[in-house]
Amino acid sequence: MKKILVVYYSRTGITKSLALSIANLVNADIEELIDKKKRKGLFGHLVSGRDAALRRQTTIQNFTNDPSAYDIVYIGTPVWDFTMAAAVRTFLIMYEKTLPASLVFFCTQASSGADSTIQEMATLSGKRPIATIICSSKDIEKNSYQEDIENQLDAIWLLKSI
Ligand SMILES: Cc1cc2nc3c(=O)[nH]c(=O)nc-3n(C[C@H](O)[C@H](O)[C@H](O)COP(=O)(O)O)c2cc1C
Repeated sequence: MKKILVVYYSRTGITKSLALSIANLVNADIEELIDKKKRKGLFGHLVSGRDAALRRQTTIQNFTNDPSAYDIVYIGTPVWDFTMAAAVRTFLIMYEKTLPASLVFFCTQASSGADSTIQEMATLSGKRPIATIICSSKDIEKNSYQEDIENQLDAIWLLKSI
């Protein structure tokens, strides 16, 4: 049995819903990245967009799991200005050396930007993901994504035989 960790950041709960579903389906441990910077409301939205556009890091709360103890780490982020959230950027930079070879990246987005986000996550982690999952925030809000995620996860396990 592979040891799997799901790591995610979520500002308003959408990526969190997806992360919880994935962790449940692949029987993984899960840890949320907590950004110490205030990001609530309209002001938080604007600050977050600026931080993302400027590729800024942030301060995250201590991460309790050791990513190197896992066979596969799933890393999830909302798309912010066509790139990842500041907390995920910070995590990837901090843990680049200790991440296992097998990474899966997942993103939630309103409409577009997941592809460039995933590309940048690969650059920062120094690894090409073994698979990626992209979900629209509307589908998650309508709760009409479960089957799609199950199919995507099935495809990952079948194709990679892992
Ligand atoms: C600062 C900011 C920038 C965003 N930029 C994009 C974007 O470039 N493309 C997009 O499709 N959605 C964008 N969104 C929408 C979020 O990616 C989307 O609502 C996401 O599902 C929110 O996830 P969360 O609830 O886990 O924070 C942005 C949201 C924020 C707050």
